[in-house]
Amino acid sequence: MSNNLLAGKKGIIFGALDDQSIAWKVAERCVAEGAQIVLTNAPVALRFGKLQELGKKLNAEVIGADATSMEDLENLFTKSMEIFGGKVDFVLHSIGMSINVRKKKEYTNLKHDWMHKTFDISAMSFHRVMQVMWKLDAIKDWGSILALTYIAAQRTFPDYNEMAESKALLESYARSFGYHFGTAKKVRVNTISQSPTWTTAGSGVKGFDKFFGYADKMSPLGNASAEACADYCISMFSDLTKMVTMQNLFHDGGFSSMGMNPAILEE
Ligand SMILES: NC(=O)c1ccc[n+]([C@@H]2O[C@H](COP(=O)([O-])OP(=O)(O)OC[C@H]3O[C@@H](n4cnc5c(N)ncnc54)[C@H](O)[C@@H]3O)[C@@H](O)[C@H]2O)c1
Repeated sequence: MSNNLLAGKKGIIFGALDDQSIAWKVAERCVAEGAQIVLTNAPVALRFGKLQELGKKLNAEVIGADATSMEDLENLFTKSMEIFGGKVDFVLHSIGMSINVRKKKEYTNLKHDWMHKTFDISAMSFHRVMQVMWKLDAIKDWGSILALTYIAAQRTFPDYNEMAESKALLESYARSFGYHFGTAKKVRVNTISQSPTWTTAGSGVKGFDKFFGYADKMSPLGNASAEACADYCISMFSDLTKMVTMQNLFHDGGFSSMGMNPAILEE
């Protein structure tokens, strides 16, 4: 299905690792809606992931960039603007990584070196990306910047570990930079708070399978899929949402508004 919602637009998609990745689905939908995109991921993910495959399929350039390196990010935006012949219209930040989560460390016994790394990769990278865009004047007026987040920023989900604080930081960067970008360039900055989704990052969380089922039952519409998230991202990149900015937008089938769902007790 295509409505040409992104006809003529140019965008950069961070974080497609394999065909389960949310960013993978977003990239496919962007191109189906008429956009030209550049795909990017960490150099190590380029070696082991399937991004080149997606690049070929979507006729998109693939440029490696570690999201913790200003040099890499400057190179990415400079090259992308050469490829596009101008500035970008939209950017998706879809990056998350925590060694503490991966190693199933308890919240009360985390390694703080790893916590630093989590914040750097999963949250500060969003600030870095926006700072590079600001410095290079890389986004057009009325452009759209998005990052993916999770409700653990507002509520406690014990096994999500320090990713909770990381998402709180990420969401705050969206508001703070949203002010600057909005005032200077009418550019909007938002985060989408997505349901649990079966991906490499998602399924790395302890007890993910049980939790996925719980969230699905708790949500009146059920969990939102990666494909549905891609649809929402398209709407946020399109010209139909120009006045939405500095928001954390829940895309979770209603989970965030529920207190208790009787369906949970029926067993
Ligand atoms: N899967 C879920 O349940 C869920 C729910 C809500 C929000 N999210 C968020 O969605 C986003 C995408 O995650 P996903 O679930 O599609 O998993 P994923 O594992 O497919 O994507 C995570 C991406 O981050 C990239 N990455 C890691 N370190 C990097 C670095 N240093 N530089 C650049 N890229 C780096 C990985 O290579 C990978 O492509 C993340 O921000 C995640 O927290 C996921």
